[in-house]
Amino acid sequence: MPSTGDLKREAAEAALGYVKPGMVLGLGTGSTARLFLEGVARLVAGGMDLKGVPTSLATAGAAKDLGVPLTSFEERASVDLAVDGADEVDPKLDLIKGLGGALFREKIVAAAAQQFVVIVDESKLVPRLGVRAPVPVEVHPFGWRFAAKSLESLGATVDLRRASGEAFRTDNGNHILDARFPSLASAERLAGQIAAIPGVVGHGLFLKMASTVLVGTGKGVRTLRRPGKPRRKS
Ligand code: A5P
Repeated sequence: MPSTGDLKREAAEAALGYVKPGMVLGLGTGSTARLFLEGVARLVAGGMDLKGVPTSLATAGAAKDLGVPLTSFEERASVDLAVDGADEVDPKLDLIKGLGGALFREKIVAAAAQQFVVIVDESKLVPRLGVRAPVPVEVHPFGWRFAAKSLESLGATVDLRRASGEAFRTDNGNHILDARFPSLASAERLAGQIAAIPGVVGHGLFLKMASTVLVGTGKGVRTLRRPGKPRRKS
């Protein structure tokens, strides 16, 4: 019986098939993205010319440790391929991301990618978003209580994320509100409502962004594709 780690590795290894020499890669955050990064490090060690744009300080540190060259996102407006994990994937390939706290940079890099490939174990597949994961919402510390109240008025139960007893801080110095909605029937509408709250810096609804989702199943990788080129990036 393969472990969740085995399934994540299976998906991460399959994503290496999308990597071509000379590419600039968006490097995701989290345990599955870490396995992809290890594969990229192998390709670099084998002589492939690749550069990465990290989506978090943790990934930047891991890339340096593994010998993967990095380039600054401040010097470019796009990457060739972004590969990242997800917390939930629905049948339309819409995602919830951000349980690792890196959603803000992850979304920018995914939106800037020619191709956004998501790697997950099969436990991440859900019939609709929000059945398990909350929607992480990154908020500026100054306005977090107002943002929490505003999310509650949209029907959410809201928790300020904590780490070691303190309010969690993202790489951008912000807080995260984990918002659980009783029903997430219209994710698109909700995404707009959340984004419109003053003080909200970003949220973990990644709608119409993933071009491909690679699912580790233990019986081979399932490839899920969004038909056509994704248009909207929210
Ligand atoms: C990081 O902020 C998240 O979006 C991660 O990509 C997501 O939580 C998946 O993480 P795992 O690969 O560790 O499950």
